[in-house]
Amino acid sequence: MFEKYIKTEQEDKIIEEDKIAEEDKIIEEDKIIEEDKIIEEKIVDTIKEIAEIDKEEIEVIKKVYDFPIPEYLLPWKNDDTLLIEYTSRLVNAGYDNIDLIASATVGEMVKKTGINEFLIKELIGNALQWSAFNFKTASSLYSSRSLLKKIPTMCNSLDKILNGGVEPRAITEFYGEFITGKTQICLQLAISATLPKELGGLDAKAIYIDTEGSFNPERLVQILSRWDIEPDRILDKIIVGRAFTSDIQIAMVDNMLEIIKEKDTKLLIIDSLTSNFRSEYMGKEAIYDRQQKLNKHIQQLSRIADIHDIAVVITNQVMSDMDQTNNVKPIGGNILAHGSTHRIECSKSQLKSSVRFAKIVASSSLPDAKASFEITKHGIEDV
Ligand SMILES: Nc1ncnc2c1ncn2[C@@H]1O[C@H](COP(=O)(O)OP(=O)(O)OP(=O)(O)O)[C@@H](O)[C@H]1O
Ligand SMILES: [Mg+2]
Repeated sequence: MFEKYIKTEQEDKIIEEDKIAEEDKIIEEDKIIEEDKIIEEKIVDTIKEIAEIDKEEIEVIKKVYDFPIPEYLLPWKNDDTLLIEYTSRLVNAGYDNIDLIASATVGEMVKKTGINEFLIKELIGNALQWSAFNFKTASSLYSSRSLLKKIPTMCNSLDKILNGGVEPRAITEFYGEFITGKTQICLQLAISATLPKELGGLDAKAIYIDTEGSFNPERLVQILSRWDIEPDRILDKIIVGRAFTSDIQIAMVDNMLEIIKEKDTKLLIIDSLTSNFRSEYMGKEAIYDRQQKLNKHIQQLSRIADIHDIAVVITNQVMSDMDQTNNVKPIGGNILAHGSTHRIECSKSQLKSSVRFAKIVASSSLPDAKASFEITKHGIEDV
């Protein structure tokens, strides 16, 4: 009996030990399964990572091989690694156009690409020899320009003195006292550039840099009611940037290459070009710095206009002309006077409050002429 008891106790112990062993085995197996899962996940992640890197690399290589600049112009053409690395840096910094490289400054390119000065100098030199800035016959210039469409203001009297509208590859400046219609002209031009062709527009995109907070989408929609079109179709094609300072304004222009290329931009408006500069650089001692900065800004605008066949429209304020009493003159002095291709003075009628005048005062191709127009709820219209 006692013996039996001991035996039973031993059996229980064995059963208990078996149970523990069984449980340990299950725990061990679970651990192995868990570890396998982790390893498997790691492998999947690594595969994904490799695939991702490949995708990125393929993108870069694709971009480099789509690069429109002949390989023999690249100073690093003989180095396979640099060919991908440096060329993709150029592409990513927006320098994928031979004219753009030819007209870039060494400092600007070095800063944007991180490529050394020596190579950049050589590249710009090579590009200069092949770019559109090299000598061309007048006839090839004539035929290339004749393909470019002007952007009409959609106000007949104004279009008549502008010989069809504002010109691509040029800077057109509208200057005048306040409420003389400069912003209204800009809004209507933005509409004209973006309206579908069947409604008389260019069906393109417009960039509007607003420096005074005067861009008003509700007013744009009001003017748009003149045409039978869903406002969103137009509003989506006008890209607006609010530049609170001259530095922001300059940066917006310097960095707009990507937008211009992607978005089929035909018009760039800066309303107004000078107000930030005027409020930031006050007093005689600041004039030199202001003019220098303004000069660079205008040069950049001129380059954008030339290279991308864009019509640049700027507005400008006026100040009283000390030499001639009761007269006003545009801000910006000689820098702006030389920088603008066409200068148009806007003024107000003394007789009818809604009537304005636009007068061509300086242009390399348009004769002096004056037009009158009216500002109505439909925008700018013939009187
Ligand atoms: N919906 C509208 N209907 C009629 N006239 C309008 C309408 N909206 C604006 N105007 C008129 O347009 C004029 C303002 O024009 P605009 O804003 O183009 O002036 P500006 O030359 O740009 O002035 P600033 O130098 O102050 O920027 C005002 O006389 C205003 O009455
Ligand atoms: Mg204005």
